[in-house]
Amino acid sequence: MKEYKRYLITAALPYANGPVHIGHLAGVYVPADIYVRYLRLRGRDVVFVCGSDEHGVPITIKARKEGISPQDVVDRYHSINKKAFNDFGISFDIYSRTSSKTHYQTASDFFKTLYDRGEFIEKTTKQYFDTGAQQFLADRYITGTCPKCGKEGAYGDQCEACGTSLNATDLINPKSMLSGGTPELRDTLHWFLPLDKYEPWLKEWILEQNQHWKVNVYGQCKSWIDAGLQPRAVSRDLDWGIPVPVEGAGGKVLYVWFDAPIGYISATKELTPDWEKYWKSADTRLVHFIGKDNIVFHCIIFPSMLKAEGSFILPENVPANEFLNLEGDKISTSRNWAVWLHEYLEEFPAKQDVLRYALCANAPETKDNDFTWKDFQARNNNELVAILGNFVNRTLVLTQKYFGGIVPECGLLAQFDKDTLAEMPRIKEQVETSIENFRLREALKYVMDFARLGNKYLADTEPWKVIKTDEERVKTILNISIQITANLSTIIEAFLPDTANKLRSFLNISAISWENCDKSSNVLPGHLVNQPELLFEKIEDSQVEFQVAKLQKTKTENQARNTIAEPQKPNISFDDFSKMDIRTGTILEAEKVAKTKKLLKLTIDTGIDKRTVVSGIAEYFEPESIVGRQVCILVNLEPRELKGITSQGMILMAEDSDGTLKFVSPATNVSNGSMVK
Ligand code: MF3
Ligand code: ZN
Repeated sequence: MKEYKRYLITAALPYANGPVHIGHLAGVYVPADIYVRYLRLRGRDVVFVCGSDEHGVPITIKARKEGISPQDVVDRYHSINKKAFNDFGISFDIYSRTSSKTHYQTASDFFKTLYDRGEFIEKTTKQYFDTGAQQFLADRYITGTCPKCGKEGAYGDQCEACGTSLNATDLINPKSMLSGGTPELRDTLHWFLPLDKYEPWLKEWILEQNQHWKVNVYGQCKSWIDAGLQPRAVSRDLDWGIPVPVEGAGGKVLYVWFDAPIGYISATKELTPDWEKYWKSADTRLVHFIGKDNIVFHCIIFPSMLKAEGSFILPENVPANEFLNLEGDKISTSRNWAVWLHEYLEEFPAKQDVLRYALCANAPETKDNDFTWKDFQARNNNELVAILGNFVNRTLVLTQKYFGGIVPECGLLAQFDKDTLAEMPRIKEQVETSIENFRLREALKYVMDFARLGNKYLADTEPWKVIKTDEERVKTILNISIQITANLSTIIEAFLPDTANKLRSFLNISAISWENCDKSSNVLPGHLVNQPELLFEKIEDSQVEFQVAKLQKTKTENQARNTIAEPQKPNISFDDFSKMDIRTGTILEAEKVAKTKKLLKLTIDTGIDKRTVVSGIAEYFEPESIVGRQVCILVNLEPRELKGITSQGMILMAEDSDGTLKFVSPATNVSNGSMVK
């Protein structure tokens, strides 16, 4: 593998429109921090940059919702997040922000360079304009009826009800969120980065040269490239952002995904006058830590920008993670479904390492994963307390008890001692290989093997029994246990930095280098160790119950909010209504439609006949449980073919506030075929 002289590590700039949560931490910041701390431990030249992403539509929307300015929003969350990262121990060399002067200058210059060189295409497109508010509308500022599912309240970029991604012009009956009025289409000029032009190069660079990227990352890139790349607009009509540095481009700003990644460069500039050494030398290893929703921007768009500019290096790796869910549900800032870092730090003081441990042990490296408070408790109690804490505590307590805290001499080694000591370099190498390949969960498992090794050594040698007959032997046992403990303080350092410090202070030693942390002579006989305290405390059921109750409260609040009924549809005539022939009927048979998730095939006695109806209710009912139930059915709905089955009619369902479907049935049984009117 290529030898790198220095490392430039970036962590995705979080949007300053909300606080940082465990999903961010598990996906990006904890892995990045572990990697960086490891590099520093190895004596590498490394800079670790991050900062707040302060532009983009989500920030202006948040500001409008709260009736404050976008600047107020970003000021608030920049300082909350900066403090939380710092208190949590994410060891950025700089945490900057994209509203900084240096960043404005750097991003403007970058755009200008590409512009002057003719790297952009200028195109006039049609976009919605709000004549009342006198401005063009970002997609998120337009709502209307979804052309796919017919739901109201779909956004110009996506319908949240059915998940379809949309163009604003697809919406039926579009309305501006600013004035409430109907927007009109107007011409607007924008600058596009011709990604199609970079396609041949991207194919070579990613698909050929970057086959060492993680499969999830490589796969996403490949499907983007295979689908064919299109020119991508790098400007927006918005009044929040960095102005497009072109004469006559008033009211237009750089697209947030154009300026934000340049923030990595600006932050490095602010950190060191030597920034070019990091960004412009081929022997720098540039690594971007990101979440999976950022892959295309970091692997395709930003590299194309850098390539077009020409003087910067490209990322050597982009170890993107998948998502972390919380107690079975997708983490969501707007639904307040998250564990917020700043709250965790208040509720679990001095437990930074426990969260680092739980998030790394359960990191969504290859697939989405779930965080539960039960698992958090179990990781702490069964692993940190029972393995790591237990070993360290027994070693130090016994050293105090038998030798007054003075490290005893190591006598003649038994074979078991030799075997145990020989495990240390072996485990250390496994930790190295795993970290170098960004398999941090696996690395953490090996780190814990080091503690397990110590635990097993004590359990097998039983110094508390041997002391009665052979004090010399106990000296050797405890000397070896002390060496393992001392080495552990370095092995765990990148993962559990606070714990590593505690260990050193218990042992009364200074840091042991990575090179030496598998040796058996790091602490000399005669050295005085300190009185130990507990390394980890148990997490009680009551603490877990408190957190779970807090989440339950959020759920209840969200449900209450969702019960606000949808607005009434336009009036219809009685004639319109009478056209519908709705009858009561009884479900005679029900079975799942093969290869579908949602569909049940029902046989219904409608009083008129027995007929087949295909209904999208399979997610809510087991087929057996609904046989015999009386329902209401629209019998004169035109028959439809669904998965090769002809469906004759539609069962009436009520959609509850949480989106689940419930039957609409007569309160007491009536004859099948009764009219509903
Ligand atoms: N703010 C973006 C997000 O949270 C990440 C920006 S990363 C950068 O998804 F490269 F643009 F800085
Ligand atoms: Zn929809």
